[in-house]
Amino acid sequence: TLPSTFDEPVLLGVIGGTGLYHLESLTPVARLTISTPWGHPSSPITISRTKTGFPIAFLARHGVHHQFNPTEVPSRANIAALKYIGVKAIIAFSAVGSLREHIKPRDFVLPTQIIDRTKGIRPSTFFESGMVGHVAFGDPFDEKLATVIAKAAPVLESNGVKLHTKATEGKDLTLVCMEGPAFSTRAESHMYRSFGASVINMSCIPEAKLAKEAEICYQMICMSTDYDAWREGEEAVTVETVVGHLKANSQNAHNFTEAILDHLEEEIKAGTVGRSLEGSMKYSVSTAP
Ligand code: ADE
Repeated sequence: TLPSTFDEPVLLGVIGGTGLYHLESLTPVARLTISTPWGHPSSPITISRTKTGFPIAFLARHGVHHQFNPTEVPSRANIAALKYIGVKAIIAFSAVGSLREHIKPRDFVLPTQIIDRTKGIRPSTFFESGMVGHVAFGDPFDEKLATVIAKAAPVLESNGVKLHTKATEGKDLTLVCMEGPAFSTRAESHMYRSFGASVINMSCIPEAKLAKEAEICYQMICMSTDYDAWREGEEAVTVETVVGHLKANSQNAHNFTEAILDHLEEEIKAGTVGRSLEGSMKYSVSTAP
């Protein structure tokens, strides 16, 4: 059993989505059970060290046994717990459906924009009950973080898998976040395509908003697992399809993650990543002190 305390600040956090329940190849050194004013996170936070001893926090979004559906994920507790241990930057993994022919199952995507199609039933702010705050959310992801993640693309490309970024597309990559847990109808899938969106999941909201409120740099890393429900002549998405591609692609995901963490460790230590939101909430609170 691992120690339940850890004394150093942990600057980098990883949130694992479906199919990613722990970080391979790193040495776990502590497992923290954290209680927050918003309850317990989805899972204990595992602290692991890289080869050089740099500590990284890992949290399983859906729980260690995948027991929280996207509506039930305790996102406020998750983000608060990561904030509490010192996290400045989060990379958050998610399986997504592709709304574009050229984004093939098993490709990876770094979205730059979000369309929120959750139903407003997920608690999505830390500012309530007498404290009013309006976070700026025009750019929901951290561009600097995305740029560093994209440096790891060659490990995918050597295996015939693509990383789609704003640079490769020449335009924003929009992620639709829907409520679920049922997948979309074909009509909805066509509607999202007509929005110009590229990918769809159920997990980005409110996580991305809460990270922004907590002044933590955040980037979602998406793995495409299906063509949702829009493609003519193809069966609409099922869990079987999603999990099949996740499993078949796990070595690529693992190699990619390892390369990303290498690059991020350097940049975070140098202070070039993780600082862009420092002090950003100072003028976002409307309530008098
Ligand atoms: N996660 C993976 N594939 C998905 C899809 N097609 N729609 C919503 N969430 C998903």
